[in-house]
Amino acid sequence: MKRYVILISGRGSNMESLLAAALPGQCAAVISNKAEAAGLALAAAQGVATAAIDHRGFASREDFDAALAAEIERHTPDLVLLAGFMRILTDGFVRRFEGRLLNIHPSLLPLFPGVKTHAQALAAGVRLHGCTVHFVTPALDGGPIIAQAAVPVQAGDDEASLAERVLAEEHALYPRVARWFLEGRLHLAEGRAHLDGERPARGALHAPAAV
Ligand code: GAR
Repeated sequence: MKRYVILISGRGSNMESLLAAALPGQCAAVISNKAEAAGLALAAAQGVATAAIDHRGFASREDFDAALAAEIERHTPDLVLLAGFMRILTDGFVRRFEGRLLNIHPSLLPLFPGVKTHAQALAAGVRLHGCTVHFVTPALDGGPIIAQAAVPVQAGDDEASLAERVLAEEHALYPRVARWFLEGRLHLAEGRAHLDGERPARGALHAPAAV
């Protein structure tokens, strides 16, 4: 059975949606850079192995990433899922896991990389916002896009209401993509995501019926 590891930094709602999806693989561990991340307790309550590696205990980003990579490798995962993991990873770390490292980002990339994506979307006045699952490469939030879900921006939206609508789509999209990977259907090749050997992929866009 394929094995996957989830990295989190906080609440862990995407982690919960992955664990609830009965993916065709075993969640070998949930690892956080914060011992107090609420998601760790949720994972432990489900009998999943957890670990916390506090980034503040390391002199450099390289040292932290080396410790994180060693902990991940202990679980020999086929897939590593960043789920609200709020640390920038070094090129060395990303290269080590390239092709089996996925991230979910709360915007329609390449728009609004980085943080405060919902505030960025409201400030820009876009009518469509959403989330993206992509392969992680050294370019921050710039790796090959696998799938996206769009949500309308509504009159009167604030950061919280928009975040809530996007999060509901994240919870549907990330397990779908993780399943493709664990079924051996999703690959990174020549800098692009391929589903069933093709691109663009059927099912890789979820768009609202009416905006
Ligand atoms: C999610 O919205 C996720 O897309 C985002 O953080 C939130 C984590 O929530 N990730 C990033 O911004 C990554 N740069 P969760 O802990 O409840 O899954």
